[in-house]
Amino acid sequence: MVKLRFLGHAAFEVRSENTTLLIDPFISGNPAAAVKLEDLAAVDYILVTHGHGDHLGDAVPIAKRTGATVVANHELCNYMGNKGVSCHAMHVGGAFAFPFGRVKMTPALHGSDIEEGGRLIPGGNPCGFLLDMGGVGIYHAGDTGLTMDMQLLAAERVKAALLPIGGNYTMDVADAARAVEFIRPEIAVPMHYGTFPVISADPGDFARAVGERALVRIMNPGDELELRA
Ligand code: NI
Ligand code: MN
Repeated sequence: MVKLRFLGHAAFEVRSENTTLLIDPFISGNPAAAVKLEDLAAVDYILVTHGHGDHLGDAVPIAKRTGATVVANHELCNYMGNKGVSCHAMHVGGAFAFPFGRVKMTPALHGSDIEEGGRLIPGGNPCGFLLDMGGVGIYHAGDTGLTMDMQLLAAERVKAALLPIGGNYTMDVADAARAVEFIRPEIAVPMHYGTFPVISADPGDFARAVGERALVRIMNPGDELELRA
């Protein structure tokens, strides 16, 4: 069994029996954060979809404090490796069998630059992640527009798809509902909405747009879902 906890915005904690991993740990400065940074004590891996501040977030300080390994694209790993973080670099389309399960890096239509000290540092290509943890498939789309590539995920038997619905920078409600058609997950969880005014969206509209195609679970920050294979 895998426990999925929503930490607010696009941040999730995924726990299996012996591994805790974080995805896009934007905690400090996140108006929707469900936890304090110091609450995240035992972390084994941190998956980062792209270099924007609301996703790269606190990956570096958390990794340094906990010794977690960061999984991200080559460019982000270079950036974080230079800061003393241990990293496992991958690239879009590649998959790797970690001790906790398999991770595949999926395409995302977006940007990935890192903003630091008023400068932009190139952060490679943005991505999403497809996880297989003991037969439980979780797809975190990252920040992305709707892509035809999402149709490829239908063959992956995704249990839970975590999809941005806030629009402006990513898919909106209508496009995210089309993504559900493409991916055919059992459960769809909306994310990346409401944190800032520009990405306001009603998750109820998403649930109505998805209809019978998947079970929509609207998670409030701090909520947890138990996923079984
Ligand atoms: Ni972004
Ligand atoms: Mn974002």
